[in-house]
Formats: sequence, C-alpha cells, structure tokens
Amino acid sequence: MRGLKDKVAIVTGGGQGIGRALSLRLAQEGCKVAIFDLKPEAGAETAKLAGAGTTIKTYELDVGDYAAVKNAVGKVEAELGPIWALVNNAGWDKPMPFLATDQALWDKIIRINMLGPLNTHHVVAPLMVERRAGRIINIASDAARVGTSNEAVYSACKGGLISFTKSVARELASKGVLLNAVCPGPTNTPMMAAVLGEGEQAVKWKDAMVRGIPLKRMGEPEDYAGIVAFLVSDDAGFMTGQTISVAGGMNMI
Ligand SMILES: NC(=O)c1ccc[n+]([C@@H]2O[C@H](COP(=O)([O-])OP(=O)(O)OC[C@H]3O[C@@H](n4cnc5c(N)ncnc54)[C@H](O)[C@@H]3O)[C@@H](O)[C@H]2O)c1
Repeated sequence: MRGLKDKVAIVTGGGQGIGRALSLRLAQEGCKVAIFDLKPEAGAETAKLAGAGTTIKTYELDVGDYAAVKNAVGKVEAELGPIWALVNNAGWDKPMPFLATDQALWDKIIRINMLGPLNTHHVVAPLMVERRAGRIINIASDAARVGTSNEAVYSACKGGLISFTKSVARELASKGVLLNAVCPGPTNTPMMAAVLGEGEQAVKWKDAMVRGIPLKRMGEPEDYAGIVAFLVSDDAGFMTGQTISVAGGMNMI
C-alpha cells in the first residue's frame, strides 16, 4: 500500500481479535502503531507477533475515559510522532433479548461502543485538522446495517457510529480529514468465542451463522486488514463518509 511508511496510527482494542490483525498489518506496511487497550499484556503480545523491524507500542487505557484518552494521545504524539490515522476498533457486547436487558448493561455497551469513539474523535481530530491531514476508520458492524436479534443496544451504537462517521466526514472533508466505516460480519475472535460459549449449542449457532453467509465461512480477523490498510493509505484519498461491508456477502444492500 502506498503512503504508509512511518505514518503513526492508533488502533483501539489492538490487543486481540480484529484489532490485533489490523495492528499487525499496519505495522507490517511500515506504520508506527499505538495500541490503546484495557489489556497491556495483550498489546505486548501483538507487538511480539509483529516481529523485528516493526513499531507497535501499547498504551493501557479505557477508551470510555476522556481524560485517559487525552493523556495517551499526548504521549503518542510525543513518543511516536504526529498521528495520521485513528482506527476505532475496541468494542464489546453481551447478546440477550432487549426486554431482558437493564440500564447497567446499556451503559456498559454505550460507553465502549459509542462514547469511546466520541472521545477519541474529539481528542485526535483537532490535531488532524490543524495539520489538514488524517484518516479515521471506524469498525462498525453489519448488525448496524440490517439489525440483529439480541444485539439491539449494540446495533444502535454501531448504527450511531455509522451516522456519526458520515456527519463528521461532511464536517471535516474540507479540512483534509477523511472518515470511513468498515462493517465486519460474524468473525472468529475472542469476543465471538465468549458470545457463543462452548459445546453443542455453540456449534449449532455457528453453523446457523455460516449457512446465512454466501461465502460459507465465518470471517477471520485478517479479512479486515487489507481494507483498513487501504483506507489509511494514499490510494484512498478520494473516499470519505462511506460504509463498507466485509461480511462474505451476508447482506447485499
Ligand atoms: N467478532 C465479530 O463477530 C464482530 C462482528 C462485527 C463487528 N465486530 C466489531 O469488531 C471490533 C473488534 O471485535 P473483536 O471481536 O475483535 O473483539 P475482542 O473482544 O476479541 O477484542 C476487543 C479488544 O478491545 C479491547 N477493549 C474492549 N473494551 C475496551 C475499552 N473500553 N478500552 C480499550 N480497549 C478495549 C479488549 O481488551 C480487546 O483487546 C469491535 O468493535 C466489534 O464490535 C466484531
């Protein structure tokens, strides 16, 4: 990919799953990657996997904490250089029927999936505007595009993230800051493993998901690395405010 060498990119939730694959790919393309994660040991493992000649540094924080985001972003600029890209990937859900949920669960889901990206945009985008250069990629979900049973609040957050991406993309286009959203489908990650659980029921649920995917397999974290590297690269300089589904053709809308 063109234009990635030595660019600084933040990846939230880069300690495992999709965020790990995105961090590894960006580092291998030459970016200096700053992982923002609750689990510093997982970020360190990602850095180890990236290997020699790559730069991945982990910053331990909760993206839902504005002051912590501000502090970490200051450190990234001081330690790695001016931030070119922000990849909002950290997310979380605990699927259950909406009527069985309570406000404590809504608060947790909204804090990670919606407030987290608001915080990171609010802290990082002004730096990009000042330099009239930057890319923001938001990892949403196909759940936001078509709805999903048992994920109403999560889907609302991801739908909100898509609308937010489009709105801020309009505000910042003239300032040289480009924003796009990527929507994964069901993907083999630690989050998916936790959601499915174990045993016969887990196998049944997984089989049912795969049946609904025209390409007849679950996503793998690496399936999203190419599109994100592209959106961060010079080749995506004429794209903003778009929502790109990478889900094996699960929803063709
Ligand atoms: N796995 C799927 O099937 C799937 C499908 C569609 C969309 N997504 C989205 O892709 C993204 C990554 O999902 P995943 O399955 O790889 O998740 P995961 O749970 O496997 O990994 C998420 C990472 O984010 C970190 N994290 C969680 N909350 C955080 C917080 N508040 N602050 C900082 N770090 C935090 C975790 O420590 C972890 O390292 C999420 O936004 C998720 O909603 C996943």
